[in-house]
Amino acid sequence: MRTIDWNDESNSVVMVDQTLLPREYKEIECKTLSSLCEAIQVLRVRGAPALGAAGAYGIALASFLSGAKDMETLLRDLQVAGKALKSTRPTAVNLGWGVDRVLKAVSDAYDMKGVREIALSEAKAIADEDVATNKKIGALGAKLLEDGDTVLTHCNAGRLACVDWGTALGVVRSAVAEGKEIKVIACETRPLNQGSRITAWELMEDKIPVTLITDSMAGSVMRRGHVNKVIVGADRITQDAIFNKIGTYTHSVLAKEHEIPFYVAAPVSTFDFEGWEGSVKIEMRNPDELRFFGSEQIAPKDVPVHNPAFDATPMENISGIITERGVFYPPFLLDEVKV
Ligand code: MRU
Repeated sequence: MRTIDWNDESNSVVMVDQTLLPREYKEIECKTLSSLCEAIQVLRVRGAPALGAAGAYGIALASFLSGAKDMETLLRDLQVAGKALKSTRPTAVNLGWGVDRVLKAVSDAYDMKGVREIALSEAKAIADEDVATNKKIGALGAKLLEDGDTVLTHCNAGRLACVDWGTALGVVRSAVAEGKEIKVIACETRPLNQGSRITAWELMEDKIPVTLITDSMAGSVMRRGHVNKVIVGADRITQDAIFNKIGTYTHSVLAKEHEIPFYVAAPVSTFDFEGWEGSVKIEMRNPDELRFFGSEQIAPKDVPVHNPAFDATPMENISGIITERGVFYPPFLLDEVKV
């Protein structure tokens, strides 16, 4: 199944619960807006493009759940739902983008039935487009990979971070589908281990060779010549930086030092065309994510903790940005991406 989808029978949002992977593959249903917000907050669904679909389906869900008796109240309820959804994770631009796209679409509706129909069809269109977009990113990115390459990646920018296929891992998947032999080195991605739990799992499911390393091993494997390219996803792309999972910046510095191309694969919906590094709010996560490993305490309970979910990689560390509209190279004029 897709990472996130809509159930037409129960009018609810269905998703793979990623907090349980790799121990258990389980699909869950969110029938209320609060359960969807909780799922986003605790990362049952995560990854920028999947969050875009979650935001869009969230507005559709709110339109079905609202008890409004008139159009004005219904539209107000949807605005409130949009605010609640957006506040769950502030950095990934796609979440707000998905919410706003559906809110804009419903403003064309003539009546309450029309609002629900338009909200759902727009959300479904966003999900379908995400798959098509990732296939395009994959096809364009695959041209950058040579037979025999080993690609290092961080976090999970695979099918589980999207509706399907993936961005960074979509590039690998497309190259493999073309017959190239590609190996992946997955960094575990502390503290929540999206690399070891999710990237390693989904690549093994697809029988794409993957080797797991700790985040701190990246420099050593690059120095030993084991990495040909680095490809990561993005949560937000501003005029001067790429925001992605914490640790991405370190990999970019290491890649530059070892003259390894560092690519970012992301849809145009991840661009924040007006934003700058300094204008972006970085999500700070619960300190217990560092003090505990699952339920195991691994640090003094009250040790002060710094736990940002994302970091910013300056454009000068990036070799190319792979989007569905083409691959963009320095000096990365964002106006070229917009058109
Ligand atoms: O906190 P997460 O797991 O949502 O972070 C996800 C990432 O940082 C991904 O690399 C990014 O969203 C790109 S996903 C195609």
